Amino acid sequence: MKRIAVLCVGNDCPGLNAAIRAATVKASELNIEILGVKDGFEGFLSGKIEVMTRNTVSGILHKGGTILGTSLFLPVNEEDIVQVAEKVEQYSITCLLILGGRLGVRAALKLMQSGVPSVLVPATIDNDLSFSDFSIGFFTAVEHVKDALDILHATAESHHRVMIVETMGKPGGWIAVVGGLAGGADYIITSAEPLDIQELLKKIRSRYESQKRFSLVIVENDVNLPGEIYQLANMDSHIPPAEAIGEFLEKQLKDINMEWRYTNLGYLQRGGSPVSMDRLIAIQMATRAVEMVKAARVYHAVGMKGLTVTEVPYSDTMINVRTVEEHLKNLAKLFY
Ligand code: F6P
Repeated sequence: MKRIAVLCVGNDCPGLNAAIRAATVKASELNIEILGVKDGFEGFLSGKIEVMTRNTVSGILHKGGTILGTSLFLPVNEEDIVQVAEKVEQYSITCLLILGGRLGVRAALKLMQSGVPSVLVPATIDNDLSFSDFSIGFFTAVEHVKDALDILHATAESHHRVMIVETMGKPGGWIAVVGGLAGGADYIITSAEPLDIQELLKKIRSRYESQKRFSLVIVENDVNLPGEIYQLANMDSHIPPAEAIGEFLEKQLKDINMEWRYTNLGYLQRGGSPVSMDRLIAIQMATRAVEMVKAARVYHAVGMKGLTVTEVPYSDTMINVRTVEEHLKNLAKLFY
């Protein structure tokens, strides 16, 4: 009997449980035994491994996070890899099913070099994996950004303020741009594109001088701002980017008494019940991963091309960051 061990690697995201449930149900249909690994590779090495059944995964579809737990630990040095291989042997595991983002990719590639088989299902709110149009969790993060902008609109409009909203997803820019597009952001600053300071000032000023004396500005976390911003506002360069933008705008737009407030969406983007699209892609990709193990097609990642599931052989390019598509960036600008 074939045996799959499923584990989460790296940061959590909504939809992991939908994938764990789908893999378990599919494995049971195909007569494959499925093991759940607690807390990623850290738990794997300490033997936190249990058989899962349909019962184990009952009632988890709608839950955020992961019932298995996760860890940022990666088996990349020789000693850890040998230990992973030993555990694979000890538990007679045919293949690991890795759910994760860029850390998951790194682990899968490293283990491949030592002959430890895996299939990988992309799961990260950042949506920045080179081999898939979508990764599990992205659509829920976008939903949260959209909801936040809808809420922040009220105060922005009532007080005629610039609301600076900090999002995750560096450096790909997906959450900021797609969330901003869906929620009607008036300007979006990401690592995926150099900031044009004059254009930013012009946009905020022209909105203030028109009937709309408020703006919603998205700033991706840890974005590298041009030094000029700090110089012009006479600020310490250690000020976090989102706040630096607020200070800068206030100082440069003194004549219109521009007021700003800052909201960091932080981990509110990474939790909560997965939206339908995340559940659907999780179900599609996780069931395909199990079919691939059944057919001995390992060392492959599962991906999405539009709404179609794809299988992509592991390669070094999987590690590359996929930045948000040009046409989406341009579309967002149409509404500035
Ligand atoms: O991987 C998802 C992500 O949300 C990134 O966008 C973000 O930079 C990172 O996680 C932050 O995670 P943590 O603070 O848990 O290290």
